[in-house]
Amino acid sequence: KPLIHYGVDEALEAGMKNMAFITGRGKRALEDYFDISYELEHQISGTNKEHLLIEIRELMASCTFSFTRQESMRGLGNAIHTGKVLVRDEPFGVVLADDLCINEEGEGVLAQMVKIYEKYRCSIVAVMEVPIEQSKNYGIVTGRAIEDDLLMVSDMVEKPDPKEAPSNLAVIGRYILTPDIFTILEHTKPGKNGEVQITDALKEQAKGGMVLAYKFKGKRFDCGSVEGFVQATNFFYELGKNAKKCRVYPGEWVALPYEGFLCTPPIGDPKEQKKLRGCAEPKKKDAKVPEALWVHRKQKEKIIPIMF
Ligand code: G1P
Repeated sequence: KPLIHYGVDEALEAGMKNMAFITGRGKRALEDYFDISYELEHQISGTNKEHLLIEIRELMASCTFSFTRQESMRGLGNAIHTGKVLVRDEPFGVVLADDLCINEEGEGVLAQMVKIYEKYRCSIVAVMEVPIEQSKNYGIVTGRAIEDDLLMVSDMVEKPDPKEAPSNLAVIGRYILTPDIFTILEHTKPGKNGEVQITDALKEQAKGGMVLAYKFKGKRFDCGSVEGFVQATNFFYELGKNAKKCRVYPGEWVALPYEGFLCTPPIGDPKEQKKLRGCAEPKKKDAKVPEALWVHRKQKEKIIPIMF
């Protein structure tokens, strides 16, 4: 499953159903990925690989996909500004899919941030502590604590030298932005590396109002580096090893593997629930599993993997 798919899953879990992609030349494969592949469907229909298509079919039924291209690589700020035509005048989430995030204990990072947005209605960046010598790889923030794990940003610097870093709190690739950021980005001058930086635009937004930095719950893998990519692969491999093969009969509800937990199905019919096989209680009482992860087997008996 490509990284971008994990990013879309995370956004969907956070209640975001309109996916807008900023792509560039040579990235047409992305559009095709989030679309029906008649050739593939034809080739594997009726084989034991058919279950592999379920996830992407469910995803396509759950959201819309729009694409626009950044003309040239002029920085993350410019890429986000390119999305204005799709986002318009709404608050929106940004996922940099090479940062792969997972929270085994509950909601994903973007869903955690949506909760904070609902309370404060301002732009929010997800942050984590990093060794100070890594400050050169990140936007670094500092600010005043207003709640546990939540700071009001007073300063932000894009990829500073460790000596100049205002803290060791690094921005990772998850943002919730209010649409006034587009106006700010229109007059944000190229900064670090000659690129328009979202960090600079957010610093300006913080001066005129409020920007929050949230220390998220969960793990983040930097899949833009070989080391991070390998770590993520190993992590998901271990997670996948726990998947058991489960025989599923017609009329049964089953859950697709999802971050290592399962819960009862979204419908309340007790008869249906009795027919559930091997489904565990959620790890957390209030843990939600998106409906998209549930499959109702109407047709033949199928074998699909289930995570325990
Ligand atoms: C971008 C942002 C940076 C942020 C990072 C997170 O940098 O400009 O502020 O800390 O993503 O991954 P990039 O990694 O694209 O150079």
